[in-house]
Amino acid sequence: MSEYILEMNQISKEFPGVKALSNVNFKVEKGEIHFLVGENGAGKSTLMKVLSGVYPHGSYSGDIVYNGNVQQFNKITDSVDVGIAIIYQELALFPDLSVYENIFVGNEIQKGGVMNWNKAIAEAKKMLDKVGLKVNPEALIKDLGVGKQQLIEIAKALSKEVKLLILDEPTAALNEDDSANLLELLLELKKQGITSIMISHKLKEVTAIADKATVLRDGETICTLDGSKGEITEDAIIKNMVGREIEDIYPKRPKKDIGENILELTNWTAYDPQLGRNVANNVNLHVKKGEIVGIAGLMGSGRTELALSIFGNAAKYKIQGDLFVKGQAVKLKHPSEAIKAGIAYVTEDRKGDGLFLQQDIKNNISIGNLNNISPKGVVNENEEIVIAQGYRESLTIKTPSLQQLVGKLSGGNQQKVSLGKWLFVGPELLILDEPTRGIDVGAKFEIYTVMNELINRGMSIIMISSELGEVLGMSDRVYVMAEGEIKGELSSGEANQEKIMELATQ
Ligand SMILES: Nc1ncnc2c1ncn2[C@@H]1O[C@H](COP(=O)(O)OP(=O)(O)OP(=O)(O)O)[C@@H](O)[C@H]1O
Ligand SMILES: [Mg+2]
Repeated sequence: MSEYILEMNQISKEFPGVKALSNVNFKVEKGEIHFLVGENGAGKSTLMKVLSGVYPHGSYSGDIVYNGNVQQFNKITDSVDVGIAIIYQELALFPDLSVYENIFVGNEIQKGGVMNWNKAIAEAKKMLDKVGLKVNPEALIKDLGVGKQQLIEIAKALSKEVKLLILDEPTAALNEDDSANLLELLLELKKQGITSIMISHKLKEVTAIADKATVLRDGETICTLDGSKGEITEDAIIKNMVGREIEDIYPKRPKKDIGENILELTNWTAYDPQLGRNVANNVNLHVKKGEIVGIAGLMGSGRTELALSIFGNAAKYKIQGDLFVKGQAVKLKHPSEAIKAGIAYVTEDRKGDGLFLQQDIKNNISIGNLNNISPKGVVNENEEIVIAQGYRESLTIKTPSLQQLVGKLSGGNQQKVSLGKWLFVGPELLILDEPTRGIDVGAKFEIYTVMNELINRGMSIIMISSELGEVLGMSDRVYVMAEGEIKGELSSGEANQEKIMELATQ
């Protein structure tokens, strides 16, 4: 018997124009927590999709040996049947169904052909206990936060007696507390003999709990670092990931004179009739020309809703209070009016409304500012290509061509396209909502550099972020939100992790 629960040998996988994996070797020992790390587009998700049968046997080359047996999965249920569960970053729960229904969907507890829902509720409760989640199994998914939803996905996996649990960037959308809980849970599952493979761009998580960390770069295995030998350090991971050392992940910005108010909100309240409450409550804030203003807060604190209410979502919210753009009171009834007023919002939900996944990179970048490249009303395609190529280079978008459909890019590269689209619009105030979610360390540095350049050109940025390091590293000033209210304002000199957390949990 091998000590390995999983051996992936010489795995290669190609997409048209892209060699996503080339002779990858990946070995995981029973009972360990093994991280898979690498830059955006390195092939991490693809490798896990090969393993789970999303890409069936025959569509890749190489061998998968699981529990000592060569496996040839033709579909996802084949891997589920032998105890492999994969949780994708985009959660696959049904928002309008209850917790217990979601846990047992496709796995219903049947008795004589009839669903036994009482038993399902009781079983669901047991599963929820296992992941340490105290929610009513009959609660609806849509009423729970992302952190809880993530745990329910895991509870669902555990309901199928999982032996190998795979998590693809599970903490990307979680706040610090929920992320910490998830890591604790993995340690707990390890005690019960469950092996985990986790993909994450958060290196602190890797150094905190990894037994091993395998680094992929450009579709190849670079190395496997062993925690028991003290090899798993942030420096070692970064160096192997990017092939060079990164000295300071927050690039310095020369101190500039900060100008007049670009945006000001006074007594700003946004009422959400669907939720029946104020999502932003009596908010007062301002952003000056040439400033990066961070908005920190826990998940659900109202940061995104505040941004949406500024960005002309008047149809969704009932607004009270005033919004001034360069000293002029304005009422922005629609996002298009906000864009005209010089405000852009790069959403955190790039799949939801940020991008057209069925269109290519070039079209996605040009779409917000077609007028600019359409003399006489016809799009000048040559110029469109030149512009898209410029963003491809400055944002290091990894793609075989500008004609690639955005839906086929890796998660982090989609985020970069979304940023490129708004940079081309060229707003005066850019609202970035979780700008580096799912982005690797090297690319983060590039995005921060772009932010600094924009500031130097006289733009202003509001940055909503759950990563405290980023808030502290990049902001000139920080507002902290909780329950739809601004609980405090800190200058970059005053702000630190403790002060932000203290205000965020008020
Ligand atoms: N369905 C697909 N069609 C074409 N190319 C694809 C497809 N899926 C992935 N790719 C390409 O394969 C490469 C590896 O992508 P993958 O999604 O595995 O990266 P990743 O390491 O998970 O990156 P990230 O950290 O950004 O999620 C990328 O160049 C990507 O564009
Ligand atoms: Mg991925």
